[in-house]
Amino acid sequence: MLSVAENELLTRTNKGTVAGDYFRRFWMPALLSEEIPAPDSPPVRVTLMGEHLIAFRDSDGKIGLIDRYCAHRQVDLFYGRNEECGLRCVYHGWKFDTDGNCVDMPTELPSSNYKERIKLTSYPVQEHAGIVWAYLGPQDLPVEFPQFEFNTLPKDCFYIRKSLLECNYLQAMEGNLDSAHTGYLHSFATGSALDPRGKGHGSRGTISHQYQSSLPHFEVQETDYGLMIGAKRKGANDSAYWRITQWLLPVHTMIGANVGETLLWDAWVPMDDEHTWVYRIEYNPWRPLTVEEIYEYDTAGFARLNVENIPGTYMPVRNKSNNYLIDRGLQRTYSYTGIKGTNAQDAAVIENQGPTPIAQRAHEHLGSTDLAITRMRRMLLAALKEFEDGTEPVAALKGDLYKVRAIAVSLDDDGTPFYEGAKKHLNV
Ligand code: FES
Ligand SMILES: [Fe+2]
Repeated sequence: MLSVAENELLTRTNKGTVAGDYFRRFWMPALLSEEIPAPDSPPVRVTLMGEHLIAFRDSDGKIGLIDRYCAHRQVDLFYGRNEECGLRCVYHGWKFDTDGNCVDMPTELPSSNYKERIKLTSYPVQEHAGIVWAYLGPQDLPVEFPQFEFNTLPKDCFYIRKSLLECNYLQAMEGNLDSAHTGYLHSFATGSALDPRGKGHGSRGTISHQYQSSLPHFEVQETDYGLMIGAKRKGANDSAYWRITQWLLPVHTMIGANVGETLLWDAWVPMDDEHTWVYRIEYNPWRPLTVEEIYEYDTAGFARLNVENIPGTYMPVRNKSNNYLIDRGLQRTYSYTGIKGTNAQDAAVIENQGPTPIAQRAHEHLGSTDLAITRMRRMLLAALKEFEDGTEPVAALKGDLYKVRAIAVSLDDDGTPFYEGAKKHLNV
């Protein structure tokens, strides 16, 4: 559990808060390239850590991420005209370029230089692998772009998605560090043909002893970029099978898969304190994604990783307002949750941790499988404390720290720390 004050510190990310200013030291996903697909395509609203922005691609293809509200009388530039290298407010025609400069002010005399004194906030952006990233921090810091491996891969080696969660970023991110939930939340009903725990163990809805005995042993290692979380199970021939998850400051998680298999990266980006943008990339550094994989990502199914959004939006079809279309009949007979798709299953629990969109961690009772969550919170709290005392985050200044993978691998069970044994697989 956390104190009320610690919970506030970790969950509030608007400008001027400690975590908000800390997060602004890091490049963050801001929108997908597909949202502003072509020069002079319509501008889109972007809300990032509570800041109301507008993104547009100008006639030269350059991306602007600027204040959403016109410097004149605060009209939403979403209604603006994206034309001739600038976004023109439809109220009185003031026009802004991608750097936020006012480049035309038709309501003033041509002799006036008023427009030279008008500028909207604008933030630097970089576009990689279908994501537009933004840096909202101080301009004089030598921050570096995080060099995630998927940014270097050919187009057919990754698949990208974005969706909204109606809750604070922290509980969303914690969901991916909580590997104990997988065998329950994402499983099938006991007794159903697909029950991975086998038939006849326990009554419906209970967890068999057989399953409990396969609970992993966890170990956590701190790094300069965050944490490596190892979950150990018995492998073949007395080996240890380690599934290694990465948590990378401040909002990234990577879930381990076997060498050669498709890997998973998520970013849990605060839209505001009560909403989170999830950016997800499935990527394979060894080969293009298969037709079957793409089908899995594109098509809804109970155990599928699919995120089905309402067309034209990034709001999931199965969301809090419709109880994720839970099917109580199927919950009795087939699926543990009765909710279709692992992402919707995750959303159903993440968005409903208590009555408010920000989980109140003073009320929780953590157990032994919550070790990774505890360590992540502790590390983030310590980082925020150091930051308050004037230390800039090292990870923000060293982009190559992000050249890592999350991997599942069999290692000799000889006492060598998992992060040593798996080193050659973990580093890109
Ligand atoms: S409010 Fe935008 S030009 Fe007047
Ligand atoms: Fe999950």
